[in-house]
Amino acid sequence: YAVDAQVVVHADRPGAVIRPEIYGQFAEQLGHGIDQGIWVGEASAIPNIKGYRKDVVDALKAIHVPVIRWPGGCFADEYHWRDGIGPRGQRPVRRNLSWGGEENNAFGTHEFMDFAELIGAKTYIGVNVGGGTAREMSDWLEYLTADGQSSIARERRANGRDKPWKVAYLGIGNEAWGCGGHMRPAYYADLYRQFATFVHPSGDDPSAIVRVASGANADDVAWTEGVMSAAGELIDAYGVHYYTLPTQDWKKKGSATDFGETEWIATLHGALHMDDLLNRHSAIMDKYDPKKRVALVVDEWGNWYDPQPGVASPPLYQQNSLRDALTAAMTLNIFHAHADRVRMANIAQMVNVLQAMILTDQKRMVLTPTYHVFDMYQVFQGATSLPLDVRAPDYVFGNVHVPGVQASAGRDAAGVVHVGLVNPSPDKPVRLHVRLSGAQAKSIKGRVLTAPAITSINTFDHPGVVKPEPLAGMSSSGGEWVLSLPPRSVVVLDMR
Ligand code: AHR
Repeated sequence: YAVDAQVVVHADRPGAVIRPEIYGQFAEQLGHGIDQGIWVGEASAIPNIKGYRKDVVDALKAIHVPVIRWPGGCFADEYHWRDGIGPRGQRPVRRNLSWGGEENNAFGTHEFMDFAELIGAKTYIGVNVGGGTAREMSDWLEYLTADGQSSIARERRANGRDKPWKVAYLGIGNEAWGCGGHMRPAYYADLYRQFATFVHPSGDDPSAIVRVASGANADDVAWTEGVMSAAGELIDAYGVHYYTLPTQDWKKKGSATDFGETEWIATLHGALHMDDLLNRHSAIMDKYDPKKRVALVVDEWGNWYDPQPGVASPPLYQQNSLRDALTAAMTLNIFHAHADRVRMANIAQMVNVLQAMILTDQKRMVLTPTYHVFDMYQVFQGATSLPLDVRAPDYVFGNVHVPGVQASAGRDAAGVVHVGLVNPSPDKPVRLHVRLSGAQAKSIKGRVLTAPAITSINTFDHPGVVKPEPLAGMSSSGGEWVLSLPPRSVVVLDMR
């Protein structure tokens, strides 16, 4: 072994609960994210359940998606909800101003809410602040949640839904500093205050809806300061966005599939920056909200690459490699460690867009390496976060350093301790010694995700190149477990 490492999990120092919503997803009305990726319509030859692709529904159910954010993104600030109700054939066709092409509105309020119900996810609706009004928002909320005999509730019934739905989260604007209106923090904070005042959902517990403010772009702590200081008392959750680009250059982000070790380590290093961001935004939030009433949510995150040259793909379509699996696991490990403040996250995006769980092509579907991480990490949903100490020499390439083992831990309701581990080295296994402090693990099981190369991908023709396998070869001695983390791998251990 070139590398020896130790992990001590402090089973006697339980932290906050890891909210299942940290495993949330984002589905924007763009490209083939919804149209074709989720929705094909009842008349399609692709097997479907009331218009939703059956293969995609089954795959999403299997990873227990806790919450879905919709309809955007940038699209939310151009969306008028009335375009997406009533008979499908009569809905207006609009230009998709954010992402190009046309939006036929076949997937609207009913289709989204019923889809979330079908896969068992909570709903996170983004309302139009940049181009809409508080009245439009409150009417939509009434349409969604009102019981009783108001005209809007009756309209929903006439459109086929008797019972009101539940809206768990309401996003008040999106990227207000950018595509949502190029606002300045003080102006947005005032608009937020205005819109938040008119959030009047009906239902058993109207106060249960979480109002999410449009938060900072990555490192922009001045935005957090401006918005929290001016509107903090009306904010329930504050949404930060952070994308990882191998080059950090939005004009030339880098390829999803054609990369070497320089881009590999740069992307891993970029993903680890999430920890720093959360620390810095949390510190400002602590100033205005020391009791941590306001959740920090990362309602867009993931890797963003250039489109594949020479291939006509829908907007924001990208392949997903083993590299994406490692950065997903690292990011989730970071969220676990911040569970006291980070209470929801939404990876961008669910199907066929950016760092997707699933890619589709006509009748075919493939699960990406990122999907498999969300599958392996399901055990952390609702677990109690446990601190851990990791001792491992850094993995270094050029002048970039990343920790030689990156990890998180949690204990589930049945008392099983789960440890998520990443070995970032492209070519060196790690011999890992794992110990629980304050508890004894009599048995251990593990799953590992790795592949022949850092660039390995799953394709429609070869869908099983990157997929989880049981981890073999674990032994115990003197209260400590010893195992091997293969190079370029994600491992999840279950210790009982
Ligand atoms: O996820 C794609 C886009 O990225 C979203 O629409 C926007 O909010 C962000 O800039």
